[in-house]
Amino acid sequence: MNIPFNRTFQSGSELGYIQDVLTRNHVSGDGHYTKLVNRFMEEKFAVSKALLTTSCTHALELAALLINLQPGDEVILPSYTFVSTVNAIMLRGSIPIFADIDPKTLNIDPQSIKAKITPRTKAIFVVHYAGVGCEMDAIMAMSLKHNLYVVEDAAQGVNAKYNGKYLGSIGHIGCYSFHATKNYSCGEGGAITINFANQELAERAEIVREKGTNRSKFLRGQVDKYTWVDVGSSFLPSDVLAAMLYAQLECLDEINKLRRQVYERYYTKLAHFADRGVITLPYIPADRESNYHMFYVLLPNETMRDNMLAELKDKGINATFHYVPLHTAPMGLKLGWQSGDLPATEELSGRLLRLPMYAGLTMPEQDYVIDNFTHILTELISKTSGLVGD
Ligand SMILES: Cc1ncc(COP(=O)(O)O)c(C=O)c1O
Repeated sequence: MNIPFNRTFQSGSELGYIQDVLTRNHVSGDGHYTKLVNRFMEEKFAVSKALLTTSCTHALELAALLINLQPGDEVILPSYTFVSTVNAIMLRGSIPIFADIDPKTLNIDPQSIKAKITPRTKAIFVVHYAGVGCEMDAIMAMSLKHNLYVVEDAAQGVNAKYNGKYLGSIGHIGCYSFHATKNYSCGEGGAITINFANQELAERAEIVREKGTNRSKFLRGQVDKYTWVDVGSSFLPSDVLAAMLYAQLECLDEINKLRRQVYERYYTKLAHFADRGVITLPYIPADRESNYHMFYVLLPNETMRDNMLAELKDKGINATFHYVPLHTAPMGLKLGWQSGDLPATEELSGRLLRLPMYAGLTMPEQDYVIDNFTHILTELISKTSGLVGD
């Protein structure tokens, strides 16, 4: 068997919608399907403005432009995240201040944020890891107290909730990913959401996304010609990609249900290891609804994690590690960060392993993964004394 780590869901409507884009003869950005996708996100996720972008990376860069990050501004973010979160800050000449994570959810720890706020702090970029929301009440309270922007990197958090609110709708700005590795996908894509009905930010988002022009107003007939009004870039994808994405968003609940089944099956079948304290399984706090983006396992140590990955690979199972902490990556070290600065991030990232996870992973395929994982872990434990409590 060869089990990929991820497989893109196909609803069956993709090709028909793409054909429709060709028939409509509007293959550039902001066509019929982009409008449908934007409206879908605004209604479903209860955000005042949603705009499809070329990626979550670009949505984050757009967010950094919108909040006017300047050289010397400090931005607090987790070190345990993808490079795009920090690059958006660095591209503006601002200073990333890495915070540690909560070992229970692997999300940014509000206590760590609190300890790092200074008069130079301009924003907090939170990352909803694995589709489970951060402690947004505590984070928004700090934002209010210190007048800080909150940008939600909800690349992995589309359609997940915190306290009944969709991720990406809680901070000032939200950023989504529709990359091939995500739950709902058009290969490469993303979106920016503007919250609190902030008209000024929403208008600027349209402009910055369209090369710094007021072309969107022109297309709506609000100005008689369009021109350069701000600094911007090209952050809008072709309507062909929007068509593929719309076909997936129409199946949002079905995809979520399929992923939930896979997640719960892994959880149930591996719980006996967790009960004996051998591994740690993901945790979803009661006030959060996951989108089941990921199923990860924390092994007892990095060596066992690496051995497990290698042995699963030998069996044709594409499990994988995740983020190398940004503060101990070569670029983080160049900025003056050191190993030991963020203990939870360093320890947990070395122990984490992600199992194959996608809507449509069949039961025999999942059994093959679970059986091999179980067998390999049992062998690894028997070779290692003193790790297991029983
Ligand atoms: C937390 C996080 N932020 C940003 C991104 C970048 O998303 P995209 O590939 O859409 O640019 C990813 C992608 O994996 C991610 O996990």
